[in-house]
Amino acid sequence: MPEKLPFEFILSPDPHAACAALREKGPVHPVDFPPGMGAFLVLDYEHGRPALNDPRLAKSVAWVPEPFRARFDADNRILAGNMLDSDPPDHTRLRRLVSKAFTPRRIESLRPRIQAIADDLIDAMLPRGEADLLDDFAFPLPITVICELLGVPVRDQAAFRDWSSTLVGPALDEAQVRHREEVNTAVGDYFTAIIAERRAAPRDDLISAMVLARDDDELLDDQELLAGLTLLLIAGHETTVNLIGNGMLALLTAPEQLKTLRERPELLPSAVEEFLRHDGPVGRATFRFATEDLELGGVHIPKGSVVHILLGAVNRDPQVFGCPDVLDITRADNRHVAFGHGIHFCLGAPLARLEALVAFGTLLERLPGIELDCDPGAIRWNRSGSLIRGLRALPVRF
Ligand code: HEM
Repeated sequence: MPEKLPFEFILSPDPHAACAALREKGPVHPVDFPPGMGAFLVLDYEHGRPALNDPRLAKSVAWVPEPFRARFDADNRILAGNMLDSDPPDHTRLRRLVSKAFTPRRIESLRPRIQAIADDLIDAMLPRGEADLLDDFAFPLPITVICELLGVPVRDQAAFRDWSSTLVGPALDEAQVRHREEVNTAVGDYFTAIIAERRAAPRDDLISAMVLARDDDELLDDQELLAGLTLLLIAGHETTVNLIGNGMLALLTAPEQLKTLRERPELLPSAVEEFLRHDGPVGRATFRFATEDLELGGVHIPKGSVVHILLGAVNRDPQVFGCPDVLDITRADNRHVAFGHGIHFCLGAPLARLEALVAFGTLLERLPGIELDCDPGAIRWNRSGSLIRGLRALPVRF
């Protein structure tokens, strides 16, 4: 059995080099995260991709042994039973019901509005000649889109930002545990009130569509609605913010790629897939629970263990991706797992891709002289937890 890694490993601000070195030693390693609980990391494509869709590796916290179960439950009260944390048959039913509201037609109809939001944000930045691309563009774009899609006021976005980062981040000390508890209550109160309003007077928005799906023969109960809406609010922006931020950083630090993309804008869809692979937002880990004793990559995994699949490491496996650390917007056969794989494959992928195409396309077209406004070495990554990989700020001038 390889040596157990400290929990800090999974929170490392720049994990790529460390993951590559570890992968050389073997594809699966024990790690102390959550602290004290039996847990493992999966780092390669051969084991990581199938693990995402392995029925022996479940998502429901019902598989977590006590005393850890109580902590998971308390941390995630508001998200309890959401589709991403469910297994079939619950997952199948929840995904089908939410998909009824979250239709491709509804997503595609957003294109002109996403373009208008991107243009407004750039209009506001242009006179200054400089910006923090994260705060001034990458954050407000997806949060405005998801607020309008759900039908919640965009003016509440400061609260959403705090709620979201708290719920995806780790609660490692008492203050963080307390804040997480408060956020669980605040999100519950917020959505409970809006659900009641929409039940009384439905509108043309996603919340109403989900409430109505409940009122059909197939039901979403109140907790399922709360958990589903919270998941969409978090997943709907926390990730896309960092696709835009991480992708722009990669592009601005690879001038020949930026030049190619400017000369050949038809490469934009392929560039977005490469941004997802190279430094995707869920670049750290997504986890599963072992429902039985099993073996993965030659390592014994006892029932009840947490299995973290490091999507960022899987997406840089040199066995599958040539020169994996290099950003190559022309990369062919880019079979990345940035949106997951199998039954939990990202429900929002079409929306995220649409937002990214509009965001990158508009930034490149309207800011022809955009460049980094600091030394690349001064860029800091978030230590935001086991899930999201993103920047603290992205200073640019144009
Ligand atoms: C699931 C990534 C944007 C909604 C997932 C998973 C990944 C992912 C990796 C699967 C996790 C697992 O299997 O454990 C991303 C990335 C995004 C993004 C990289 C942006 C670049 C969005 C957006 C939405 C969304 C915009 C909705 C508005 C969801 C939902 C699930 C999910 C509902 C759960 C699906 C299920 O359990 O069946 N996402 N996501 N995501 N994502 Fe996304």
